Amino acid sequence: MCGIIGYKGSKNASEIVIEGLKKLEYRGYDSYGFAIKQNNSFEIIKEVGKIHKFNKELPKSNIAIAHTRWSTHGSVTKENAHPHVYNNIAIVHNGIIENYQELKNKLKNHEFKSETDTEVIAHLIGESNLPFEQAFKETIKQLDGTFAILAINKDSDQILAARKGSPLVIGIKDNDYFIASDIPAFLKHTNKVLFLEDDEIAVINDKIKISNIYTNKEIKRKPMEISWSIEEAEKNNYPHFMLKEIHEQADIIEKINQKRVLNNEILFSNLNLTENEIKNIKRIVLVACGTSWHSALIAEFMFEELLKIPTEVEYASEFRYRDPILDENTLVIPISQSGETADTLAALREAKSKGAKIVSLVNVHGSTIERESDSTIHLDAGPEIGVASTKAFTSQLTMLYYLTIYFGKVRNILPLQQIENRIRDIKLIPNLIRSILNNGKEVLECADKYYLKKNALYLGRGINFPIALEGALKLKEVSYIHAEGYPAAEMKHGPIALIDNEMPVFFIATKDNRTYKKVISNIEEVKARGGIIISIATIGDKEIRELSDFTMYIPETSYILTPILASIPMQLLAYYIAVKKECDVDQPRNLAKSCTVE
Ligand code: M6R
Repeated sequence: MCGIIGYKGSKNASEIVIEGLKKLEYRGYDSYGFAIKQNNSFEIIKEVGKIHKFNKELPKSNIAIAHTRWSTHGSVTKENAHPHVYNNIAIVHNGIIENYQELKNKLKNHEFKSETDTEVIAHLIGESNLPFEQAFKETIKQLDGTFAILAINKDSDQILAARKGSPLVIGIKDNDYFIASDIPAFLKHTNKVLFLEDDEIAVINDKIKISNIYTNKEIKRKPMEISWSIEEAEKNNYPHFMLKEIHEQADIIEKINQKRVLNNEILFSNLNLTENEIKNIKRIVLVACGTSWHSALIAEFMFEELLKIPTEVEYASEFRYRDPILDENTLVIPISQSGETADTLAALREAKSKGAKIVSLVNVHGSTIERESDSTIHLDAGPEIGVASTKAFTSQLTMLYYLTIYFGKVRNILPLQQIENRIRDIKLIPNLIRSILNNGKEVLECADKYYLKKNALYLGRGINFPIALEGALKLKEVSYIHAEGYPAAEMKHGPIALIDNEMPVFFIATKDNRTYKKVISNIEEVKARGGIIISIATIGDKEIRELSDFTMYIPETSYILTPILASIPMQLLAYYIAVKKECDVDQPRNLAKSCTVE
């Protein structure tokens, strides 16, 4: 994915797009570029590297577009960086043009300067004899694939925008217009936004005109106000977004608690499901990727154990290739921080086409997954900028917990007393998270001791197995240490061969009356083979300290809520190790915050 921004208005467009692009850097950070309109010419600046290091002054203007790249077609070079220019036209693009080669072949005698799929768009618009707006429309109609595109013309004061499958949102402040891939790019200036939908184009002049590309019908849409604050999109005094977002988790869950509970009643007023529909759910299928997939695995425990509804968790990327069996009594829950993950969206569409009900969990307002779902539960985590997902994960777990209790009440399966107890448990979580964060010394020591290791295993059982997966994912993505998560009992079926005295093995070994004793046996097995034992244990557990080379403690909570607490030291550990290794914590190599391509 890439980030794009355009601005037209009374302020200095150059400053606004530089600043905005810096806020979008999480979407792509291998190269960047600007097209600044100057009277009847463009000033084009392209650089390889990260936009936050850019400190040159650009010429003043009232119209500019800009792009930060996560390369798909063509390597990381200045030539491949956007904007791409042809004749009078400059464009920036987020997405993939699948038929670009075919389109290029039609453009005989055109010399292409880049290896990208994007450049052809500038050529198609730029060679047309039609007026700018019409040439843009005719070009867009020829494109297959996904895109959010901004185009400017040397001879016009318009910005034209089109979207299909990649996000595009317009910020409005009086007669100033900001068009970007995501709200934080302009949140400093306005929280009044309009989301562009698929197959729509926007003509931004002194006002905005939105129309459907195929029907030409003008679309009147009222701007909405977004409740995110500027502070939420800034690092404030934290060195990295990841650390800030880890620290925000207690407050976020506290706010969710306030919003979702009133006098021991769980509130889900926007859920577009009738009581009968909830009662008729025969099966739940969760689809997601990465960290969101890990929260789906935890939800499986919640739904099966508390609701007794058969539940399956699917990798969104694989779901549609299996011809899944679904019907109107299947509830499909796509989980996605960004709401734009292409695989999750494709799984949603597959489920919808087969008649399933779709209730998604999404953090980013106005996202495609939200728009295509029957209803959406917002995670209320605020903007998550660090590429490694942290606060979205614990918000997902909190929302899934509330959804479980809500369904349990409607389906008459959870006794009132249990509902009250479970609400009491979740209300304690924010302070328990604070206590883990305030005792971060242990985690720092652990990072100090083991940051030079090349590999790590993460093991857990039951509801802690997904936390083993999440711990391993966090470590590998931010610190580049090879890490794998396994159910602790699976270890003996293969991974045990990896154990030697260089291998740290993280055990998520919190006390419970289900698998704790068995995990202790797994620890013994690793110890007997010389592995380094690092445990995440429940406060007061001395037995585990005896067995471990290093122990990090978390407070006690109910079984179902343990993953929320256990994930905090996992996140912190990955963070501190990455910092010690001088890795780029917020923008790990090769990664993009959300994968909008399949
Ligand atoms: O926006 P989504 O939740 O759909 O993103 C899914 C994954 O791409 C995401 O969780 C990814 O694994 C993160 N980098 C994990 O930290």
